[in-house]
Amino acid sequence: MKGVILAGGTGSRLSPLTKVTNKHLLPVYNKPMIYYPLLTLKQAGIRDIMIVSGKGHVGSFLELLGSGKEFGVNLKYDIQERAGGIADALSLVEDFVAGEDVVVILGDNIFQDDISEYIANFAGKKNGACIALKEVENPRSYGVAAIEDGKLIEIIEKPSAPKSNLAVTGLYMYDNHVFDVVKTLKPSQRGELEITDVNNHYIKQGTMDHFIVSGFWGDCGESFDSLLYTAEMVKTLSIGQQRTQSKLTKKCDTKTSSLPVR
Ligand code: DAU
Repeated sequence: MKGVILAGGTGSRLSPLTKVTNKHLLPVYNKPMIYYPLLTLKQAGIRDIMIVSGKGHVGSFLELLGSGKEFGVNLKYDIQERAGGIADALSLVEDFVAGEDVVVILGDNIFQDDISEYIANFAGKKNGACIALKEVENPRSYGVAAIEDGKLIEIIEKPSAPKSNLAVTGLYMYDNHVFDVVKTLKPSQRGELEITDVNNHYIKQGTMDHFIVSGFWGDCGESFDSLLYTAEMVKTLSIGQQRTQSKLTKKCDTKTSSLPVR
């Protein structure tokens, strides 16, 4: 399975922070935002990862993350010419995914969960898609799941009257058919190819699974408050800190062992 991190878009809700800096490079506690989805994919054993971003910013990601060697992954980069929507960004990675299944994470989404199990469940399926839901207090800001008799029947993007408080998080798993689905999409009223239309296609087809995220989930791009709150939660819950800690421990060990014996 291939991994994709979507790091394009305009970041307009976080302006002026995003006037010259790509949103996904902003700090979230002690790391640039994009480190978190990257570490989430790495932890789940995904090794081949494509990062999609706008043309003015791809160079910064390359400078920051390079080949991915430091993280133990293989990174590739692609350019989205204009912010045409999440599904438009996804359409760019068809050749990279090369007939495999794909797990997509939005670059401003931070998950506490180890997603390995979710991916393993999906990999066991013959076809279809799987999305991750999370109960939230402000569903109007997200894609929202309409559930009837325990069944997911539709997703409504940023509804004014949400049918539940289950937000669709930015973690999606798709079979390779997703690229054909994207080709059938028409731009929404805001001029974007919507990931919600892709997901509704799978729901109609009866091949969409879903699960509820058990740990913390944060969408840093939603507002200044969500950026601040997510950073606080990252610190409190030590999200993404394990790798740094084990590295530090290693470093200390090396130091200790190289100390002269007195
Ligand atoms: O965070 C979860 C939500 O993400 C979902 O609940 C919504 O259904 C989904 O539409 C999306 O809503 P947002 O309003 O948060 O999407 P946003 O425009 O902020 O884009 C999210 C990420 O997708 C962003 O970090 C960068 C990437 N992106 C976005 C656009 C519009 C791209 O790579 N290219 C794009 O053209």
